Amino acid sequence: MDLGITGIHHVTSGASGAQEDVDFFTTAVGLRMIKQTVLFDGTKPIYHLYYGNKNAEIGSVMTTFPFRQAGFTGRQGSGQVKTTGLTVPQGAAKFWAERFKRLQFASGAITERFGQRCATFTHPAGLGFEVIEDPADTREGWTTADISADVAVRGFHSVAMSVQDTEEMERFLTEGLGFVKVATDGKHTRYGIAGGGPGKTIELVAEPERRQGGWQFAQGLVHHVALAVPTETEQTAVKAHLEGLGYTDVSEIKDRNYFHSIYCRSPGGVLVEIATSDIGFEIDETKEHLGEKLHLPPWFEPRRAEIVAPLEPIVVPAHATGR
Ligand SMILES: [Fe+2]
Repeated sequence: MDLGITGIHHVTSGASGAQEDVDFFTTAVGLRMIKQTVLFDGTKPIYHLYYGNKNAEIGSVMTTFPFRQAGFTGRQGSGQVKTTGLTVPQGAAKFWAERFKRLQFASGAITERFGQRCATFTHPAGLGFEVIEDPADTREGWTTADISADVAVRGFHSVAMSVQDTEEMERFLTEGLGFVKVATDGKHTRYGIAGGGPGKTIELVAEPERRQGGWQFAQGLVHHVALAVPTETEQTAVKAHLEGLGYTDVSEIKDRNYFHSIYCRSPGGVLVEIATSDIGFEIDETKEHLGEKLHLPPWFEPRRAEIVAPLEPIVVPAHATGR
């Protein structure tokens, strides 16, 4: 069954402070700042910050809502993305393990899963990340003075979801979305879509004893994982397909300015978005100037002063934009 899902589109998580988040992703991880905007839902002004690889590709886009000012906090647990995995070149795990240890985001340990070297690290808000070596990932990483192309992050490799019950979640991924089971390593099982591999992989982590985590907007929680489809045609088909299987909690299409989205609460608890790939980040600024200033969607623009005034001022380092 091919519903037209091409892989991961983006991952959206709750950060804490805004500047802290910018510094973490652009300086420590070395991602490119590709968009500054705001959360489109709710009533409190909150940033929505986007980071990505050199070409700001779908499948490399990490987005955050810095929730410290709003005071939104949550509880980690099962039913959530436990670890967001970023691909790095073969042999680069050592560089990242040592770098994150020096910067106090990690212990410096290198582990191995599915025959690939990984190094875990933790965002200042408590979000779990890892770099995963995978020579099959040929996407171009963003480089900085101390992160060269031979170690730079290529984009997402995979996300690892902690679930109490893998059976129903597996049905959702395979029958519901078209993923194929690839392999199991300990309590991790990999599922691939569109051929699998980097950017096209989800892992389920079987943790039946782990208590349920929170689902709300909160610092320290991954809010959702978005999967990519080309257009609203495939998106509408996915929605109908999921509803036909009984997964009826699928939202209507929402206009996210840079893509259109639907959301479905999966049986494992993780919120899964299906986002289109046909609009993109260059609708309100050129590729060369991505991420340099705050953009609001047309429907918020008349309220710009009121929305921007309470936001924590941020400075985006020059190395994260402008090439
Ligand atoms: Fe999203």
